[in-house]
Formats: sequence, structure tokens, C-alpha cells
Amino acid sequence: MHQREITLRFLAEPQDVNFGGKVHGGAVMKWIDLAAYACAAGWSGRYCVTVYAGGIRFLAPIHVGNLVEVDAKIIYTGNTSMHIALHVNACDPKALNRRLTTQCIVIMVAMDESGQPMQVPEWVPQSEEDKLHHSKAIKLMEMRKLIGEEMQFLSKR
Ligand SMILES: CC(C)(COP(=O)(O)OP(=O)(O)OC[C@H]1O[C@@H](n2cnc3c(N)ncnc32)[C@H](O)[C@@H]1OP(=O)(O)O)[C@@H](O)C(=O)NCCC(=O)NCCS
Repeated sequence: MHQREITLRFLAEPQDVNFGGKVHGGAVMKWIDLAAYACAAGWSGRYCVTVYAGGIRFLAPIHVGNLVEVDAKIIYTGNTSMHIALHVNACDPKALNRRLTTQCIVIMVAMDESGQPMQVPEWVPQSEEDKLHHSKAIKLMEMRKLIGEEMQFLSKR
């Protein structure tokens, strides 16, 4: 049995907040990484590592005491990788004014016992929405190749 999506739900705590009273971007990124890991592990049944995170957009702030929901969903599987779309929603639990705060893509790789990438079960999109997300994941992969080439200058230090 493979589980394609998960949601983490919790309250933003005082230690997550910066000097301006809003949740640190780094705290949000950690939650995203945790949700992506749980999603990838649930799909592959294996220990997984993060190989890429990108396209992150902080759309709205999260405040201390907000109820946070991190949704993670597989939108593409390669040979050893799982491409995961993540959405972070938050609300005041008293007001239930749920809003999208952050979105991004994370790619996780399943690992075997010797620490090598291993094959993952294929995810085949069924609905029209899933087919669209799958095709966008392929397009993004092509775009990342170009970005990777442009970023080569960072490796020359
Ligand atoms: C994960 C790791 C073992 C993969 O090693 P590698 O030599 O790149 O292995 P491969 O080239 O076979 O790539 C494995 C998969 O990752 C994908 N991948 C590798 N680099 C990528 C990148 N920059 N962006 C997107 N996908 C990437 C490959 O496309 C491949 O997917 P596929 O098998 O579905 O086609 C290695 O990159 C690693 O150890 N990275 C550090 C992981 C880590 O510490 N993460 C943070 C803590 S969890």
C-alpha cells in the first residue's frame, strides 16, 4: 500500500517566531522538509533524503498560535526520485480564516541499506488535475536543467 499524500497539523509555537512576531522562514522550510520526508517515506516505504527544494514562495505571514497545515502530495515519480508539491496553510484557530501562506516543490530520493538511491514505485496520474501537475513537474525538470547550467558559475570558487 502506497500513501500518496499527507498533512501535518500543529500550532505555531513561540520558539518559531522572529523579532517581528512572525514565524521564521527557516521554521516554515523545516516543516516543509518534514512533510516532504513523511510523504516520500509513505510512498516508497524507504528512508528518503532531500535532493532539491525550489520555487519557494512566501505569500503571507504565519503568526504565533496559528493552526498550521502542511500538505504534501506526490506529483511525479522518476526512477529513484519523488517530486512533491507542498502547500502551507494557516489560520487563527478561533477564527478559522484559513489562507495559503507558502508553496514549493521538493524532490526526495529513496535510499537502500547501503546509502544508494533505489527505485521507487511509479505514480500514475489519473485525474485531469493530476495529469496537469504531472506534466508541469516534467516541464519544471527541463527548466531546472537550464537553471543548473546557468548556476555552474557558483561551483567555480
Ligand atoms: C541523494 C544522493 C545520494 C543522490 O546521488 P546522485 O549521485 O545525485 O544520484 P543520481 O544522479 O542517481 O540521482 C538520484 C535522483 O536524484 C535526482 N536528482 C539529483 N540531483 C538533482 C537535482 N539537483 N535536482 C533534482 N533532482 C535531482 C536525479 O534526477 C535522480 O532521480 P531519478 O532516479 O528519479 O531519475 C546525493 O545527491 C546526496 O547524498 N545528496 C545529499 C542528500 C542530503 O544530505 N539531503 C539533506 C538531508 S536529508
